[in-house]
Formats: sequence, C-alpha cells, structure tokens
Amino acid sequence: MSGDARKTAAGLSYLTGFGNEHASEAVPGALPEGRNSPQRAPLGLYAEQLSGTAFTEPRAHNRRSWLYRIRPSAAHPEFTRTDNGALRTAPFTETVPDPNRLRWNPLPEPPAGTDFLAGLWTLGGNGDATQRTGMAVHLYHADASMERVFSDADGELLIVPEHGGLLLHTEFGRLAVEPAHVALIPRGVRFRVELLDDSARGYVCENYGASFRLPDLGPIGANGLANTRDFRAPVAAYEDVTGPVEVVNKFCGNLWTATYDHSPLDVVAWHGNHVPYVYDLRRFNVIGTISYDHPDPSIFTVLTSPSDTPGLAGVDFVVFAPRWLVGEDTFRPPYFHRNVMSEYMGLIEGAYDAKAEGFVPGGGSLHNMMSAHGPDRETFDKASAAELKPQKIDDGLAFMFETRWPVTLTPHAAGADHLQQRYDDVWRGLERHFRA
Ligand SMILES: [Fe+2]
Repeated sequence: MSGDARKTAAGLSYLTGFGNEHASEAVPGALPEGRNSPQRAPLGLYAEQLSGTAFTEPRAHNRRSWLYRIRPSAAHPEFTRTDNGALRTAPFTETVPDPNRLRWNPLPEPPAGTDFLAGLWTLGGNGDATQRTGMAVHLYHADASMERVFSDADGELLIVPEHGGLLLHTEFGRLAVEPAHVALIPRGVRFRVELLDDSARGYVCENYGASFRLPDLGPIGANGLANTRDFRAPVAAYEDVTGPVEVVNKFCGNLWTATYDHSPLDVVAWHGNHVPYVYDLRRFNVIGTISYDHPDPSIFTVLTSPSDTPGLAGVDFVVFAPRWLVGEDTFRPPYFHRNVMSEYMGLIEGAYDAKAEGFVPGGGSLHNMMSAHGPDRETFDKASAAELKPQKIDDGLAFMFETRWPVTLTPHAAGADHLQQRYDDVWRGLERHFRA
C-alpha cells in the first residue's frame, strides 16, 4: 500500500466497451498497422498471440489478443511445484456434497505479510477444471501487495472486492478496482495485485467454463442491465524490469513457480478482445416490476457463462443493487423457493432485503441444488404486514454466483470456525397461519 498507488489508480485512463476489439500502445508506433505479425515487429518487440478460445470458435464468441512485448512469454525457465495454500480446484471430492443451507462469517484476519495469492481461500465449487467446466468460489484476504506475478490457466477470475481497493497490474495495463466494482482477469493473463489500502478482503469466482459475457436482453430491448459502454479495459502500460521476478502459474489445480530474469508484464502494445476489465456495479440498470410480483432474480444478471444447453448457465454473476420496490399486492422480498441451480451469495455492503441479520459484509451463504430457502421470519412478518407504498432498497449491495451444479465444499470450508452453527434457525420461527 502506498500513496503512489492511490495516485496511480486515480490517474488511470481506460478503453470502454464490453467485448470490443480494443487497441492500445504505450509507446507511439509500437502497434503494427495492417498485420498482426510483421517480419520485424515495431521497436524491436516480439509479437505473440494469446488465445482465450479455440481458433475456430464462432466469431461472435472468439477471444484472442495480440501482444507486442519486450520478451516473448516463451522465454522462461522450468516451472516447479509450489504449495497450493488454501487454494483448491475442481473436481472437488474431499467432502460429501451437503444439502444443508450453510452460512459463513467473514474470513478472519490474514497472517501478517499475506498477499492476494497467498490469501486465496477456496470455499468449494463444481465441474472439472481439466474439462473446462464448472466453477470455484474463493474468498481472499490480504495485507500485503504482491511482489510476484500470477496467472491462472484453469479459468478466468472475477474479483469482487468487499473491503479495500486493488490496483491490478496486468499484461494489458493497470486497472483500479474498489468495493462495489468487479474486475475480470481472463484465463492465462498475468497480473499482480497491489493493495490500495492497509488490507483487502473479497470474493473470487473462478470460471472454468466459457468466458463471461453479457446476457441477451430479449424483450427488454437494446439497452439495460449492465450496459456495454460501462465496462472498462486498461490502456497499455509495461514494466521494463531486468532481475529476478517470481511467476506463479495455476495449472490443473496446482500452483507452479518459476523465477524469471525479467518482469513478464512487459507488453508495450496490444490489440484484441481477450482483455481484463472492470465494471462499477452501481452502474447496473435494475429492471423490475411496475405492476405485481417480481421477476425471477435472473433479471439481475450482470454476466453469464453459458453452457452447451441453451439458457443454462455454467455460472451467472448476479447483483442485488439499490432499486425501488413498487409491486402492488405483492410479497416484495425474494420469495421462498427451491432451485435446481445452486446459489452462493455474498454481501459487499449494508444488508440484504431477505435477511434481517446474520448475513454480513464479507460473509456468504450457500443454498445448494433444491435446498429450500427464502426470507427469515422477521423479514416475512414485516413484509407481510407492510404498507405497500413505493420503497427504496438502498442500504445494501449483495451478489450471487449461481451455478448449474451443486457446490461441494473444501474440508477447510466445511470445518471452518467461521461457519455459522444453527443457520437453520433463521426459518425456525415461521409459524402455522393456515385457517381452513
Ligand atoms: Fe435463492
């Protein structure tokens, strides 16, 4: 953490738009014109393609970028295994999938000197990283900036800070991300995390499947939900550093390390659409009822990772942002339900409108496939009796990673001291009101 980092973060400029064919050069003339791989790339740079999708995937979904760098990525020594810490990867087989509703308090303080990578703590997940299906839920806590560089071959990383800002130094340039923003690091992109505050805490969705994209809007029309122009990608920025730099690579569930003789964040220019980005969740355009009932929470989808089955997401990222409730003759909080999809929820700030207490910022809940859940008793009683005048929900920012398969826990999540006991009691007081 340093004042310099805050100054850097405040002064950053960005390219805007989701999925665009961006282009950026940190030095004028570094980006070749008219071709990707000229005989001699400008300024003595090496040209290199980074493919996020197979070469042959449909154009609409194809993701790749061309990087013009001081040294090619291939110039590195052998990787050797290093400790995985509390990071785990699908398939998750160390515990039995649990049908119970579960809720955790925030992670405890990290040991002094914990950087973002060391502070990753896997709650659980599903699928199989080697098959590029499924997802993992991680939390993180850190009190030190990374000196090393990290990349994840297993999936893209959706970072959801809850406490403390982050300055992400990536191969593509720098991104500042604060609580209420999210950042996405695509599969294979190298980055390091500098803290903007004394400590940092938050959530990460590791998506092994198809890259997150914006949901289709159907009858909503051409605008709404997360608007394309609000996604921001970095402009090119590079490190010209010679000297030992540790580079850690997550590959098929394990961490591998190598000591380079230079920084791999040495991309002077780039173009393409396989790029990191940030998004401010407060920009989300919330759509809801103006008559009665409320739409299913899929209406709050920010990003979706589709599966091979139309309409069935590997994982959706959903936000419960400030909004007006105006439904007439309607039970306004989220309804009681059972869902074939599995829901991990976290809280970035404030409170969530279905839970009066116990669900706190930095904590999380897991409602696995078909587990029955809904408002707690206090919320039910209040909402059933409330006068239905227009009401602004503006004191909280909750989110959900909603996934097609049950989430199996890691042993350290299943046995965590901060796993709440007796979460079921939330629904215990719901009394019988039936009158025949
Ligand atoms: Fe739910």
